[in-house]
Amino acid sequence: MEITVEPVETIRGQIRVPGDKSISHRALLLSSLAEEPVEIEGLLKAADISSTQKCLQDLGTGFVEEKGRLKVSGQGLRGFKEPQVYLDAGNSGTTARLLAGLLAGQPFISTLTGDESLRRRPMKRVTEPLRQMGASISGREDSASLPLTIRGGSLVPISYSLPVASAQVKSALLIAALYCRGITSVIDPFNTRDHTERALRHLGADIKTAGRRIMVQGPARLAGGRFSVPGDISAAAFFIVAAALTPRGELYIENLGVNPTRSGLLDLLKQMGADLRLLNERERCGEPVADLLVKGGRNLRGIKCGGEIIPRLIDEIPALAVAALFAGGETTIRGASELRVKETDRIRALAVELQKMGARIKERPDGLVIEGGAKLNGARCHSHGDHRMAMALATAALFAESESIIEGAEAVKVSFPNFFNLLKKVAS
Ligand code: S3P
Repeated sequence: MEITVEPVETIRGQIRVPGDKSISHRALLLSSLAEEPVEIEGLLKAADISSTQKCLQDLGTGFVEEKGRLKVSGQGLRGFKEPQVYLDAGNSGTTARLLAGLLAGQPFISTLTGDESLRRRPMKRVTEPLRQMGASISGREDSASLPLTIRGGSLVPISYSLPVASAQVKSALLIAALYCRGITSVIDPFNTRDHTERALRHLGADIKTAGRRIMVQGPARLAGGRFSVPGDISAAAFFIVAAALTPRGELYIENLGVNPTRSGLLDLLKQMGADLRLLNERERCGEPVADLLVKGGRNLRGIKCGGEIIPRLIDEIPALAVAALFAGGETTIRGASELRVKETDRIRALAVELQKMGARIKERPDGLVIEGGAKLNGARCHSHGDHRMAMALATAALFAESESIIEGAEAVKVSFPNFFNLLKKVAS
């Protein structure tokens, strides 16, 4: 699908963005492990979340939607049934990796697969430690990629230092840890998103953190209750950048998840000179939530970023790259080689596609160098089948001299199906 994006003068309005994708996956998956029913409100309705829900259904979990809320009939840790079909994670890395942790605990055989993009993404990072815990996992190239066949069962606790900062791998191990007798420790090289830890605590699991070490005592018993999923800061990122870049921009984003392990973009944009204000800060079901007011019209400055902040904004780098195009001076992004193994190679895709608009952006092995102060021309660009690429290109196109065409725009269905409609609503 092609979408034409016209240049805008300003972005104004009051919006809500869809439910947080990371929290939605965890709410579904952990609710299905609970002993009692769980009610989820604000769940993201998008393809990645449907993939998680369908896989859990294939494992026997019951879901009923009522008055905009989803009721999950948790089966407890041991109530799952052997699936009769291949479990299909679609485009979703979070589904595949978190589910691998759950399947490692099951005394039956299951096969996990995904779409073409997901079948190219690295899985060794999760199969290796799950094997150390006792799961038997087979797949091509020593289980380096999907499809994977997993026979789980009696797992043993381990102490594991993650070689890459990955919340998906950490979460898979914490889920498998629920099945072990004893304490499993996972040590993160940098602080990565901690939604699994918060959700497990919310459901009553025995989980402790000491610095970057997370410890789970198993076997666990998860209680029921409710989850309230806040708006997704990764989806809001494009609107935040667009509003910050327009002279009379003013956007009020309600009910936004502002977990500090996810809000690196807000910190960086403030350092670049943007006017961002968090209002009505509160906590909902263990997650920090606020309203965000973005005012445009400030001249942004280029920055250097790398190191610990990268996991706190890894999914927002496409939006950050767009902000950097219009900032004064150079922006360098280092230590972000993980971007090369996302839904597409986002370092390459950002450089190739934004250059088509005349941007001065250079690829580095682990990041990007962006020359600010750009005048962009309208162009025909491609999403590379990646939702965040489609949204980043559309955001850049708002500030081009003439209209642009985004090919493969349907990729937004993965995390933000109404992205283009919402953009139309606030753009003028
Ligand atoms: C996610 C973790 C991150 C992120 C992804 C969602 C999660 O991936 O990029 O979009 O929900 O745990 P990694 O764990 O591969 O860093």
